[in-house]
Amino acid sequence: MKRQADLRDRAALDAVFAAHEIDSVIHFAAKKAVGESTRIPLEYYDINVTGTVNLLLAMTRHGARRVVFSSSCSIYGETPKVPLDEDDPAAPANPYARTKYLCEQLLADACARYPELSVIALRYFNPIGAHPSGEIGEDPTGVPNNVLPYMAQVAVGRLTELPVFGDDYPTPDGTGVRDYIHVSDVADGHRVALDHLDDEQGLRVFNLGTGTGASVLELLAEFTKAVGTPIPYRIQARRAGDVPTLIADPGRVERAWGWRTTRDLTAMCADAWRFQRLHPNGYSSGPPTV
Ligand code: UD1
Repeated sequence: MKRQADLRDRAALDAVFAAHEIDSVIHFAAKKAVGESTRIPLEYYDINVTGTVNLLLAMTRHGARRVVFSSSCSIYGETPKVPLDEDDPAAPANPYARTKYLCEQLLADACARYPELSVIALRYFNPIGAHPSGEIGEDPTGVPNNVLPYMAQVAVGRLTELPVFGDDYPTPDGTGVRDYIHVSDVADGHRVALDHLDDEQGLRVFNLGTGTGASVLELLAEFTKAVGTPIPYRIQARRAGDVPTLIADPGRVERAWGWRTTRDLTAMCADAWRFQRLHPNGYSSGPPTV
């Protein structure tokens, strides 16, 4: 039986847990745009934080005790060291990042109260790409906030040129450097996390990144190779709130589980382009078939 419920609807959530024997939960449901979070912060707290509280309440009422939670590298803040490891201090700099940090804290408090809980928070760096079939990909509403979907929409002619936000950062080519991770590696990371939930009780936190950075211009060059035709771009002013470089130290996950990412930037771009080419207008022509 399929069920759909809003995490803010406690009764609906209880009905889901009453109808199924749920042992483990992968908790992805959240809003995630940094800029938007400054415009509608209360909605971010309501959906991301209240949603997580309600989920934990339902879980503890129904005996579900294992969670993999989507956290974010944004909690490391505005002056991150390179690379970042999980013991680096949190300094969330916007409402979105603060909701993720608050969720980690409330998960820790829940674990202290309910010692049977096992929780793994995965701090995603910059997920990009698509399922290699080209059937599952990113279809943002409105103008994309993130760089790769923007590039992809320029490549199919829905947008005219990519704004490159700043070329005066202290990075090799002056544009922002990020640790892009293939969405299929993100998915694998969750599968491996699920397998390891029972290793320990309480909250554990892991970075999910590759340990390698790429600049906006390097990403554009790689994506252009996948597309095969030039993608117009224009250097613009820096975007408020952006940091020069964000790169994960992926060592903890490797030491704990012997797991690391396997897909490179070439695969991320080729897969993202396959999805965009096959679905130039996203899912408006129908839902995914995989
Ligand atoms: C942000 C969040 C991250 C979140 C992700 C998805 C921070 C520090 N990071 O990542 O936690 O998971 O959004 O919402 O808050 N850029 C351009 N042109 C564009 C768009 C972006 O040049 O049109 C540049 C940015 O300046 C940056 C890089 O591309 O250097 C990546 O930006 P973006 O894809 O928006 O992700 P982040 O801001 O790094």
